[in-house]
Amino acid sequence: MSQTQHFDQSSNNNALSNREETYFSGRFSVAPMIDWTDRHCRYFLRLISRHAQLYTEMVTTGAILQGRGDYLLFNQAEHPLVLQLGGSNPHALAQCAKLAEQRGYDAINLNVGCPSDRVQNGRFGACLMAEPQLVADCVKAMQDEVVIPITVKTRIGIDELDSYTFLTTFVDALVAVGCSDLIVHARKAWLQGLSPKENRQIPELNYERVYQLKRDYPALHIAINGGINTIEECVQHLEHVDGVMLGRAAYQNPYLLAEVDRVLFDDETPVLSREQVVMAMVPYIEQHLADGGRLAQVTRHMLGLFQGLPGARRWRRYLSEHAHQTGANVDVLLNALAQVGEPIARDH
Ligand SMILES: Cc1cc2nc3c(=O)[nH]c(=O)nc-3n(C[C@H](O)[C@H](O)[C@H](O)COP(=O)(O)O)c2cc1C
Repeated sequence: MSQTQHFDQSSNNNALSNREETYFSGRFSVAPMIDWTDRHCRYFLRLISRHAQLYTEMVTTGAILQGRGDYLLFNQAEHPLVLQLGGSNPHALAQCAKLAEQRGYDAINLNVGCPSDRVQNGRFGACLMAEPQLVADCVKAMQDEVVIPITVKTRIGIDELDSYTFLTTFVDALVAVGCSDLIVHARKAWLQGLSPKENRQIPELNYERVYQLKRDYPALHIAINGGINTIEECVQHLEHVDGVMLGRAAYQNPYLLAEVDRVLFDDETPVLSREQVVMAMVPYIEQHLADGGRLAQVTRHMLGLFQGLPGARRWRRYLSEHAHQTGANVDVLLNALAQVGEPIARDH
C-alpha cells in the first residue's frame, strides 16, 4: 500500500474485515508510551475500540537487531498497529522496518519527540529535529525497504529552536522524501534540564501551531497530540487537523475509548461494557499465565477501567494489592470485579 493510498482510505471506516481495510485512518490513536503500551495493554485497549490505532512502546533499533528478546511480538487482535522505532541510523532503521513489515505491522513511526537523556546519547528522539536531513534520510531508507507507511512523531520545536520556520524547515525535509503522515506533539521539548515527564507538562501547549501546519500543508495527514482529555476535545481538534492522538488520558481512563468508534468513526457496533471487557480478558490472561507470565503484567494496565465510577477505588485497590502475589490467577480479577459491586451493574 502506498502512502497515497493510505490517505484515500481515511474515510473508509466501515469495513473492518481484514487488515488491509482496517488500516488506517490515523483519525484516532493511542500514543506510544514506554512501559505502558506494551502488548498486554494494547490487547486490552483493543477490546474497547475496534478503530483506535494503537502504537507500541518505542523500540530502539539496537534492541531489535542486537537484543535477546522478541521486541516485535504482538497479538493479531491488536491491528491496526503501528511500531514506533527509535534510532537514527538509516541502515539499521531500514533493517528493522523490513522485519516489522514481515511480522505484519500496519505502519512504522519514527520517534522524533522523546527528550530523555538516554535517547539523546543515542542521538535519536527529539534532538533529531535539529537534523532534518538525517531524519529524511532515515525515512527514505525505510520507505525504500517496505511498502507500509512510514510516519514521524515530532514536537513543534526544541530548546530555542521553536519558531514556526524551524518547524516548517523540518517538515519540508520530510515532504521532500514523500513522507506524508506526521503526528505533532503540540509543545516543544527542552533537551536539557527537564525530565521527560516535565517535558510533557511544562512547555506550553500550542495547538494553533499544529493547525497552522495543516493549513500550510493541506496534503499532509497531520495528527495532533498533547493534553487532550476527552472525546469532545477530539471532535474539536478534528475540525482543524486529520487525527488526534491521546496518551495519558487513554491510559489512565481507558474506557474513554468506548466512545471512539461511534463518535469518531460513525460505527454503531455495540461496545463491550466494562464488565464484559474484564471477562474478555480472562482467556487472554489464562493463556499468559500458562505461558509462564504473571497476572500483574496484564492487570496493571486495567487499573483505570472503572475510572469515574463509584467502585473505581475498590477495583484499583484490590488489583494492586493482590495481583502481585505469588500464584495470583484470574480469580483475583474476578474478585476485584465483585468488589466493584452494584453501581457497575447499574451502569450498564
Ligand atoms: C509513560 C509515558 C511513556 C512515553 N513513551 C513514549 C514513547 O515511547 N515514544 C513517544 O514518542 N512518546 C512517548 N511518550 C509521549 C506520548 O506519546 C505523548 O506524546 C505525550 O504523553 C503527550 O500526550 P498526552 O498529553 O495525550 O499524554 C510517553 C508518555 C508517557 C506518559
